[in-house]
Amino acid sequence: MNKMIIEGNRELSGTIKVSGAKNSVVALIPAAILSNESTIYNVPNISDTKSLIDILEYLGVETKYEHETLYINNSNIQNKEIPESLAKKLRASYYFMGALISRFKYASLYFPGGCKIGTRPIDQHIKGFEKMGVKITVDGDKYTLDATNIHSAKIYLDVASVGATINLMIAATTTKGTTIISNAAKEPEIVNIASFLNSMGARIIGAGSSVIKIEGVKELKNGVIETIPDRIEAGTYIIAGALIGKNLTIDGIIKEHLDALLSKLKDMDIEYVIDNNKITISRPKEYKPINVKTLVFPGFPTDLGQPIQVLLTQANGKSVFEETIYENRIGHIKYLEKMGANIKLNNRTAYYVGPTPLIGTDVVATDLRAGASLVLAGLIASGTTTISEINHILRGYEDIVNKLNNVGAKISLSE
Ligand code: EPZ
Repeated sequence: MNKMIIEGNRELSGTIKVSGAKNSVVALIPAAILSNESTIYNVPNISDTKSLIDILEYLGVETKYEHETLYINNSNIQNKEIPESLAKKLRASYYFMGALISRFKYASLYFPGGCKIGTRPIDQHIKGFEKMGVKITVDGDKYTLDATNIHSAKIYLDVASVGATINLMIAATTTKGTTIISNAAKEPEIVNIASFLNSMGARIIGAGSSVIKIEGVKELKNGVIETIPDRIEAGTYIIAGALIGKNLTIDGIIKEHLDALLSKLKDMDIEYVIDNNKITISRPKEYKPINVKTLVFPGFPTDLGQPIQVLLTQANGKSVFEETIYENRIGHIKYLEKMGANIKLNNRTAYYVGPTPLIGTDVVATDLRAGASLVLAGLIASGTTTISEINHILRGYEDIVNKLNNVGAKISLSE
């Protein structure tokens, strides 16, 4: 299925259950090869999960995925070069660099470069591995890492990179001595991976802060972890409730992971009620305009930047949105304009004037979160919105059509 057809302007009421976090599970699955057996709970059934299970199976790992639980058995694992056909399906295949050198002291895989939202280099990953004595050769898109002489190191990240922090943490888990990662990223997913590794007997402290200490261990026992709820999926549906909800409940959140978004909704005069791990939200009569600037955690998350911009099209006045993490996260702009939004874009800053009614039309999902913002726009637009290239959206939102149709949306899929 390549197209999503949304009949807009239908009020959303009822409950949406949040799935496990894509940005956790794409690191948990590679990390699972460090011990003989592992169990990962709350694994979302999205295409990224499938792509990573395909890589595990290519390496001879036995997996069983049922009822959102992934069982991993590494008894017959072999260290093989991961081919481009498997690695290029998702950027997070780079976590096999840290995982394979952690287990085998050697890794060879293809890693695709940038994508639609920016160049997305991995220089911080490479810098960290080389600090640890890993010999890296790059031949086109093929990376070979020789970690025969890997050792602990004090690593300072020039960029608080989520990927580099996780990759280096995984590599340091079995590296003799104490490795310190300074200016580490603090996203909740990093804590989830550290908890998983510690469940295997790793000795990691400081995950979630900007200094992480990893004391290498020789042996690791079976691991077990529950994937944290997907704060970006939850945030996307919370914004849907702010746009067109009537007592829409999003069930299974961790409030602390959503503080930046919740604060911005309050600034827009949007009311919501939080009861433990549930939030219930309705659209207000009108929205106050706001300014949003994306930052590393706990700042406003870049992954909710495109979704919240749909709210800015409805705000009563001028709003300013600045993207500071990526240089090109603007794939949604021309389609929101096509639907009737009033946007002026200057480099990484978008100036919105609202409210502007949105009219359904044909649009294209250029990347995951741009696609998510077009779904939100389609939900409030009058008429029909047809989104093509929806494979981008299905990568990061488990069962999105049923989740939305079950609360009153009218979405169908077509070729
Ligand atoms: C993770 O990507 C997420 N992906 C991204 O979510 C998220 O936007 C990003 O973190 C920031 O929160 C996964 O977890 C799979 P980074 P990652 O390394 O690790 C630059 C989504 O929509 N950088 O923190 O790749 C980089 O170019 C995706 O779910 C370097 O310069 O992000 C970017 O500008 C999109 N050198 C910034 O840092 C490096 O070596 C943040 O990148 C690495 C990154």
